[in-house]
Parts: sequence; structure tokens; C-alpha cells
Amino acid sequence: MNVKGNPTRTIWPGPDGTSVEIIDQTVLPHRYEIAVLRTLDDAAHAIRAMLVRGAPLIGATAAWGVWLAMQNDASDAALTRAYDTLFATRPTAVNLRWALDRARTRLSPLPESERATAARALAIEVCDEDVGINHAIGQAGLALIRDIAAQKPAGQPVNILTHCNAGWLATVDWGTATSPIYQAHDAGIAVHVWVDETRPRNQGFNLTAWELLNHGVPHTVIVDNAGGHLMQHGQVDLCIVGTDRTTATGDVCNKIGTYLKALAAHDNGVPFYVALPSPTIDWTVRDGVAEIPIEERSGDEVTHIAGLGPDGTVTTIQIPPTGSPAANPAFDVTPARLVTGLITERGVCPASAAGLKNLFPDQSI
Ligand code: MRU
Repeated sequence: MNVKGNPTRTIWPGPDGTSVEIIDQTVLPHRYEIAVLRTLDDAAHAIRAMLVRGAPLIGATAAWGVWLAMQNDASDAALTRAYDTLFATRPTAVNLRWALDRARTRLSPLPESERATAARALAIEVCDEDVGINHAIGQAGLALIRDIAAQKPAGQPVNILTHCNAGWLATVDWGTATSPIYQAHDAGIAVHVWVDETRPRNQGFNLTAWELLNHGVPHTVIVDNAGGHLMQHGQVDLCIVGTDRTTATGDVCNKIGTYLKALAAHDNGVPFYVALPSPTIDWTVRDGVAEIPIEERSGDEVTHIAGLGPDGTVTTIQIPPTGSPAANPAFDVTPARLVTGLITERGVCPASAAGLKNLFPDQSI
């Protein structure tokens, strides 16, 4: 995607040949800053503190983190340490485990002298694959949007509601939920996006709105509680969200609040689609509610909110009274029965074991 007229990705090898560079997402949308990762610990910190976030980008950063580790020490012990350190950063997005397993499988059989070079090649491969997968998701989702547009009165945009940020910032490029939106917009189909704020960290306000604004996609920011009302009044044609982990049976784990949007969509007959790259499918899990680990984050994210003050500086303020305890589950699980379809790089399928198996016959479940 373009930032200030320059095509860019969210992560790339640094010009010095030994570092990795990322967009620091903790300061968007008010500041655009590049952060440099030089060590395994830098990569782990970037994931844990959410300088990078979003399931596919977490996986890609982990792949680069293994490269950073291998440059210093490519022993078996160092490979294990890199795996364990990165794996411990965030529990929910399965792309992290996917990328680390892939790195371990690729590097373990190699002599130490070849591991750093192989790790770099793997990180590039993971990133390039992610871009290709997300572009293909966009093509599959574009067909859905085109069908809905054909049924709308001339001049009326297709109204799409999205939650959190499953945009290009959450991936290496294109995004998952946003890829069909960008491709529809670029193809001249009129789209308008309802952007959920996504409390507590406001990824919708901070990141999705910033992306859509930069790309010229018409959108409106709304509070998290507005979606049901808009659906009741015919103002949402479809929902598209991303996912951090989808089970082999089609249960979808995504940012907290997604489940409530799916319930409202179901009650109002609004199609509810989930866009996902295949590395986000956890083929080992069948019951999302019972089995997917849900990240519990600091209550400070609930009690405090950051924004731009009147003097143009970013300020954090406390909202509830001092002393009120806060709970902060970061994700929830939407059961497959509430999901109209899964938009994958291999096409759209029902959210079910049979639907996924049909698209991915090579996977054993
Ligand atoms: O906590 P985050 O910001 O990492 O959560 C991100 C999401 O929930 C996204 O919707 C999900 O990772 C899909 S990203 C393509």
C-alpha cells in the first residue's frame, strides 16, 4: 500500500543488511515512525508491546526474529531460545506458532553455518507468501462485493462493517478483511466502510480509519455499540472481519466484540464473512470457545485512553474512577453457525469442517 506516495510493506529488511524495519503501530495515526529491530529481544518486544500486531504480521515478525537470533548464535540452543522467546509473546494468533514451526523445521537439519542465510530466505518467503495470499483473498471477496453491488440501486455504495484492523497494517500488505474492500474500490465499485472503534486499543479508529483515509476509501467511524442499530435500519450490506485463529470446524477467534457483531448480523439477516489466510487455521482445534487461549491484557488499556490533545500532542487520560478494577479479554470466539462464509486464498467456503476440508484437502483434521 502507499504511505506518503511510497509503496510500502509493514516489515522489511533494513538497509544495513543485519536489521529489520517496521512501522511502529503504537503511534499511528498521529505519527508515522519506523522502528528498527536489531535483536531477538527487539522482535519479541515489538510483538508483545504491539508495535506490530495482527495475526499475519505477528507471524512474519517472528520469522524475521529468528533471523535476528541466528545472526548472533545459530546453535541448537539458540534456535530453541528464539522459538520459546517469540512463542511466549502473544497467545492467541496461531500464525505465530505456524511461522515458528516452519522456521524450526527448515533450520534444524542445517549446519549452523547455513542457518542465518536460510532464516533470512524463509522470512522473505513468509512475507512474499502473505502478500500473495492476501491478494487472492481480495479477489475472492471482490466477487461477493460485486454481487451485492449489482443488487443495489444505482449510485448506492455497498456498506461494509468491519471490526478491529484486519487491514494491510495487520499483514505484510493488502490486509485480509480490507483486501476485498481495496480491490472493489480500485475496480470502481462504490463501497463505504463502517469502522468500529474497537475498544480498548482502538485499532479501528487508529489504524483502519488511517488506512482507508490514505487509500481514499469512503468510510465512517462508529462506536462499537452502533453496529446493531445500523443493521436494524438496513445500513449494513455485509460484515467482513479478520481472525487470529479459526478452528478446523470454522469457529472464528477475533478481536473482542466480534461475536456481538456476528449475533447482530445473524438477527438482522446481514451476511457475516471472515477473511482468513490459511496459516490462520488451527487444524488441531475443533471447539474454539473451549480450546483457543484468549489473551488477557492489562486493565490499564480499559481504564485509560490515548488521543490527540488540543495542543496537538498525544495524551493519555484515565476514564473510570481510580480503584475500579478492569478486565481486558482481548479476543472472543464466534461460533461457526453465525458465520456466513470464510474468504480464503482458495475461494469462499462455508464455515464448517466440510467447507474447509473441501478447500484444503491436503490438511488432515
Ligand atoms: O490485538 P491485535 O491488534 O493483534 O488483534 C488483531 C485482530 O484481531 C485482527 O482482526 C486479526 O489479527 C486479523 S488480522 C488480518
